[in-house]
Amino acid sequence: MCGIIGISSNKSVSSSIINSLKKLEYRGYDSAGIATLSQGFINEVKSEGRVENLENNFDLKNLSGNIGIGHVRWATHGVPNSVNAHPHSSENVSVVHNGIIENSTLLKKYLLSKGHKFKSQTDTEVIVHLITENLKTSELKDAITKTLKQLHGSFALGIIFKDMPDLIIGARRGSPLAVGYGPSENYLGSDSYALKSMTNKITYLDDGEFCFVKKDEVHFFNEEGTKINKKVLELSSDQQNYDKGDYKHFMAKEIEEQPQTLKTGIKEYLDNMNNDINIYNFPWKIDEIKSVMLIGCGTAYHSCLMAKYWFEELTTLDVNIDIASEFRYRKNRFKNDTLYIFVSQSGETADTYAALDLCNKNKMKTCAVVNVIESSIARDSNFVLPIHCGPEIGVASTKAFLGQILVLYILSLKLSSLRNEIDNKDYKEKIKDLKNLPNLIEQTLLIDNDVQAIASTFNEAKGSMFLGRGFSYPIALEGALKLKELSYVHAEGYPAGEMKHGPLALIEEGMPVVVLAPRDNYYKKTISNMQEVVARGAKVLLITNKSKDEIISENIWESIEVETTNDDLLPFLLTIPLQKLAYYSALKKGYDIDKPRNLAKSVTVE
Ligand code: M6R
Repeated sequence: MCGIIGISSNKSVSSSIINSLKKLEYRGYDSAGIATLSQGFINEVKSEGRVENLENNFDLKNLSGNIGIGHVRWATHGVPNSVNAHPHSSENVSVVHNGIIENSTLLKKYLLSKGHKFKSQTDTEVIVHLITENLKTSELKDAITKTLKQLHGSFALGIIFKDMPDLIIGARRGSPLAVGYGPSENYLGSDSYALKSMTNKITYLDDGEFCFVKKDEVHFFNEEGTKINKKVLELSSDQQNYDKGDYKHFMAKEIEEQPQTLKTGIKEYLDNMNNDINIYNFPWKIDEIKSVMLIGCGTAYHSCLMAKYWFEELTTLDVNIDIASEFRYRKNRFKNDTLYIFVSQSGETADTYAALDLCNKNKMKTCAVVNVIESSIARDSNFVLPIHCGPEIGVASTKAFLGQILVLYILSLKLSSLRNEIDNKDYKEKIKDLKNLPNLIEQTLLIDNDVQAIASTFNEAKGSMFLGRGFSYPIALEGALKLKELSYVHAEGYPAGEMKHGPLALIEEGMPVVVLAPRDNYYKKTISNMQEVVARGAKVLLITNKSKDEIISENIWESIEVETTNDDLLPFLLTIPLQKLAYYSALKKGYDIDKPRNLAKSVTVE
């Protein structure tokens, strides 16, 4: 998390830094700060909260300097206040940092013994003093090389120096960092998104590398301090996707964009002429793969769970899934005939990246399902399946979830066909249904009024539950995550059949419970489980799909019917009311929908 921007220019940089920080706020919004260099002084301004507070608290137009660094923070060490906000500066050095310095306590002890004074509770401040200390005995490049070696943990850094009027140093280990090239100015940014409004020419640093960014030149070094050459990439321009348009929130826009997300994915992977699926350049022979391991965090993990059901339904492959932060520290049995699939919208999630890195080090077959194709996870995987849903800005993942499950469904269907595990007629039928899915999503999106009417009940409750069986269970988990993330209401997702083994004790009179019971193979079983919670006083919102048959239940509070399709694809449709429920609950409470408290869009710390 945390966002970094640095600009070395021949003109004043403060307004460009502010603009970039606003774009970077999805990475953290606990505090914001800027340091510029002018007339031989480091000028530092910082505020708790949003970039807007920084603008309100300081006269930034008069913050002079042709070189500067800026930061938005997602707090790790030290409470989110203005003292702990970045940059952290001494008289001579100013630093912005994304990541965690794991040996900061030891380093601080050492630096205190050398007479350094600390102002904040952060781990970052040790970097400022360590550089200052190393500069006493080494010239600049050696001091940086030495400092980076002394730091344990993960970091992306931007550093300026009082005595170097046009130099920004960037360094990367674990956390992403990019250099951008502009006319008479160059940039440092924690991702290309921060730089896109200024340039489409980018170089990504690899782990262990650092760089010297000046207004008219950039030099790269490896961890030993040896100069290296790096490629300049040209990014596609999709700037219009970064605007909210007429929508009140990015989340609302991103929910409504889902038919388009699916159309783009379908166009990318489906061969219309032959009613087939195309996955070009798949680097392995089909019989080399005997099992699949899917790994992700949060919503991306729910996509993995969804995929497990499809892979098991459509193929005889062994399928396992794991949460990335667990996988990376487990004693894994790596297997050459396993395809390791990493699911991540941002492609920068630290735990997912670490899990990928572990698999790469063990020479496994790695595949990324990502949205950001320039991301670290995409770049370091053997094979990439992009979800092509355009930038997702709202912290709560919506269209990326549908994009991820679309690609994973397509992959499971294709593998099933290649392994001769599906009858060709069924295969073609499923492809036909898939092509119609965007239309069904479009129609299901029209349920706003139904959802708005019930949203307050969830807000007023102490807690709520989301139940589903089979294909609907991952969607129940995702619905609960959306509600807690946006409305700060306690929400639990459970397999409906599991309630009687404990969670049923939570049900009390009036508790809202969402039951996902589409008319699939599990319908009757789920309805029975629903009766168990109704009997204990729960206020049940039943979400099912349209059917000529009446709903076989009494005493439910409300019901919502989504469009209908084959069983495989119902999870896509069931997701829509849950996204809207979370959205309207948060809207009614007046919460910040695109930036829920304590969270950030891109989680680049472990
Ligand atoms: O960028 P990623 O898909 O790797 O992010 C993983 C999670 O942090 C993310 O899905 C998170 O759970 C969402 N905010 C949930 O809406």
